[in-house]
Amino acid sequence: MAKIPQIIYGTAWKEDRTAELTLKALESGFTAIDTANQRKHYFEEGVGNALVQFLRSGARPRDELFIQTKFTYQAGQDDRLPYDPNAPLAEQVRQSFHSSLEHLGVDYIDSYVLHGPSTSVGLTDADMEVWAAMEAFHSAGKARMLGVSNVNLQQLKLLCRTAHTPPEFVQNRCFASMFWDKNVRDFCRDNGIYYQGFSLLTANMPELRSPAISALAQEKGKTVPQLIFRFAIDSGMIPLTGTTDETHMRQDMDIFDFELSPQEIEVIENISVKAA
Ligand SMILES: NC(=O)c1ccc[n+]([C@@H]2O[C@H](COP(=O)([O-])OP(=O)(O)OC[C@H]3O[C@@H](n4cnc5c(N)ncnc54)[C@H](OP(=O)(O)O)[C@@H]3O)[C@@H](O)[C@H]2O)c1
Repeated sequence: MAKIPQIIYGTAWKEDRTAELTLKALESGFTAIDTANQRKHYFEEGVGNALVQFLRSGARPRDELFIQTKFTYQAGQDDRLPYDPNAPLAEQVRQSFHSSLEHLGVDYIDSYVLHGPSTSVGLTDADMEVWAAMEAFHSAGKARMLGVSNVNLQQLKLLCRTAHTPPEFVQNRCFASMFWDKNVRDFCRDNGIYYQGFSLLTANMPELRSPAISALAQEKGKTVPQLIFRFAIDSGMIPLTGTTDETHMRQDMDIFDFELSPQEIEVIENISVKAA
């Protein structure tokens, strides 16, 4: 079973710099990489090029890396589809998954994620068909773990209740104004699901400018992004960072020499109340 990462490097929006930046992230010490077979926002083949180079260098073996990719419905794609849109959904998942393996140059995926349910309320028959197709790759050992992204609490509960194989990961955007997705995080904690948080910086710019945040970062001798990623870890999340800057990559990996107290975690968790 793949080791659960503490922080994940995200590869969205890097276009023709994807390979170069993913390789830099791996060389900076990241062992977990997030991508998607969604050419609109990700360049999965670029991630694969970086992985091939990195694995060939012998710096780490495949089984020390955590590779995560996603199935994305046609509604979330542009015209560069990794499947035949006229095929049944289960077949679309199969085609997308096989194309991911090919792009990434690997023979299994550590975590295979449904990019988001087909509607914003509840789950549809389409979602269950897609999930069942993902479960088949899980049963075959080709997708070691399954996950779901962009879900609300009601959808997550429903999936956990109805799926044969419940998700082991949730990947959600984390708004400080919603107490950093606390209701979903609490459900994940109580049900043994790992919570991955994204947009921890970009979704929370006003809150992160608050004096309480700068003071705490200064007290710890860290930058605000480092403080926030540490907060994420100390409150049970796995943070994602998609930085394009090598210094930031190193800083994002340099968050394991300090911890936040329960009181400090509470201050950050409730920062939007204070910032309001
Ligand atoms: N499941 C989904 O639907 C979904 C949606 C969005 C994102 N994601 C995943 O999450 C990953 C991260 O995306 P994100 O939305 O959190 O945004 P992001 O791409 O990580 O952007 C972070 C922004 O903060 C800046 N920054 C400043 N200091 C930083 C530091 N020390 N460390 C990191 N960033 C710093 C970055 O600038 P510099 O580049 O100059 O550092 C960048 O502009 C994506 O690549 C993707 O894998 C998933």
